[in-house]
Parts: sequence; C-alpha cells; structure tokens
Amino acid sequence: MFDAKELARKAVEAKSKALPTYSNFHVGAALITESGVIYKGANIENSSYGLTICAERTAVFQAILDGERKFEAIAIAGDSEDFLPPCGACRQVLADLCGKDLEVILTNQKGEIKTFRLEELLPFSFGEEFLKP
Ligand code: THU
Repeated sequence: MFDAKELARKAVEAKSKALPTYSNFHVGAALITESGVIYKGANIENSSYGLTICAERTAVFQAILDGERKFEAIAIAGDSEDFLPPCGACRQVLADLCGKDLEVILTNQKGEIKTFRLEELLPFSFGEEFLKP
C-alpha cells in the first residue's frame, strides 16, 4: 500500500519542473505503479498553445514508455487555492491507460488531500471496448 500524503508531496515536488511559459500556472503529478514505482510529471507549454501538455499526461506517458502497465494512483498538485481537478483530456487518457479504478488524489494549498476513483470523475466513458466488433 502506498501513502497518499507522500504521493501528494511528490506531486508538489514535481511542480518545480513545470514549464508554464504562457499561463504561469504550475502543475505537478506523481503516478505510482502497482509495484510502487513513482513517475513524476509536470505541464509543458508551447507557443502554439494547443500543443501544451498537462502534468498528468507527461507522467503517464513516461511510465508507459518504461513498460509500466499497472497503476494504483496519481496525485496532482497545482497553483490553485482549491483542489485542482484533472482536465477532461487527462481524465480520458488516464481512463484508457491506467483504468477506471485508478485513485486520483487532489491537493490544495493548505496541504489537504481529497481522493476519488477515476470512474467518479469520468462516468460512462469511451474506451477500447467500444472499438471491438
Ligand atoms: N494543466 C495541467 O497540467 N493539468 C490539468 O489537469 C489542468 C491544466 C495545465 C495545462 C496548462 O499548462 C496550464 O495548466 C493552464 O491550463
């Protein structure tokens, strides 16, 4: 079992690697695999704004490239006062690559955490099952 508070601290650490050139809004993520390996991610912005990539996706793509396929939880930390929820695009990517049972740990500036299952954040979602004949 992983420590949710500890994972949240790793997400806060990851925020320092963000490159939010245009929004100046830093986001960090920490994704833990079933075997306990932690992958960090941070948002990286682009002058062609739509090419910006979120913290959650940088973390999950790094893990996938490392051959990881089973995930337990992701913690997200941002510059917002309130709990920072993952954007819709990241919810879809996390559902596809990490599964709907993924635990999603949100953090706020007070150092509090709030936990959801991804299924709660993205109910009735599109997935590979719809592509099968
Ligand atoms: N951002 C994330 O990294 N994750 C989210 O789930 C919400 C938004 C980033 C994208 C962009 O660099 C900045 O926050 C402002 O939208």
